[in-house]
Amino acid sequence: MGIKLGVNIDHVATVRQARKDINPDPIEAARVALSSGADMIVMHIRGDRRHIQEDDLERIRKEVKCYVHLEMAANADMKNIALKYKPDSICIVPEKPAEVTTEGGLNFKDKSMIREIEKVIKAASDNGIGVSLFVDPNADDVRMGYKLGVDTIELCTRKYAESWGSKNQASELERIQLASYLVKELNMSLHSGHGLDYYNVKPVADIEGMECLNIGFSIISRAIFVGLKNAVSEMKELID
Ligand code: PXP
Repeated sequence: MGIKLGVNIDHVATVRQARKDINPDPIEAARVALSSGADMIVMHIRGDRRHIQEDDLERIRKEVKCYVHLEMAANADMKNIALKYKPDSICIVPEKPAEVTTEGGLNFKDKSMIREIEKVIKAASDNGIGVSLFVDPNADDVRMGYKLGVDTIELCTRKYAESWGSKNQASELERIQLASYLVKELNMSLHSGHGLDYYNVKPVADIEGMECLNIGFSIISRAIFVGLKNAVSEMKELID
C-alpha cells in the first residue's frame, strides 16, 4: 500500500486573507487536491486565524466528502472547535503567537501543557475523532506520546528539511529513521511532516512503515507555477 498524502491547504487561505476576499477558495483547492491524488485534506486553525477560518471548517464538512485532518493547539478553544466541526482526526501541535510556522514538536517538559493535551485527547477520543501528536524525532518524546495513549505519532521533519544540503542532512534523516522504528515498535501509526518538498521528501517516504505525509507549503508554492493539479499529482507520484 502506498503512502497517504495529506495536502495542507492553509496557504491557499493565507493568500485569500491577504485581501480578506473569497478567493482563492481553500474549499475549491481541497476539491482539486482530492481529484489529483490527495488522500486527505489538512487544515491548521491557529489562534490568530491568520489563514484557516472556522467558516472553512464548516464548509469543508458540508461541501466536500473527504477525510479532514485538523492541526490545532491544545487549549479549550481549539478543543471546542474540534468538537463542533468534528474532523476525522486532529494533530495536536505546539503554537506560539509570533512564530512564522510551527517550530517543532510538542514540549513535554511543560507539565501544564501535558494536562491540556490529555484533556484534548480524551474529548476527541470520546467523540470518535482520531488523535495524533506532533513530536520531535527522539525516543523520549515518542515514548511520551505512547504514554499519553494516542495511536498515531506525526514526526516533525522540520530540522531535517532545514538541514537539506548541509553536513547535518544524514544525521537529521537518521534521527527520523530511528524515531520511526520506535513508533512502529510501539505499534503506533507513523506519520511525518513539515518542510517536506519535492527534493527532500523521498528519503522520508522510503522509511519503512511510513503511512502518511502531511505537506502544504511546497505544494501550494509549486502550484503557483504548474497549477495545483500538477503540484499534487507530482508529489503523490514521488511518495508512492
Ligand atoms: N504537519 C504539521 C503538524 C504542521 O504543523 C504543518 C504545518 O502546518 C505541516 C505538517 C505541513 O508543513 P509544510 O507546510 O511545511 O509542508
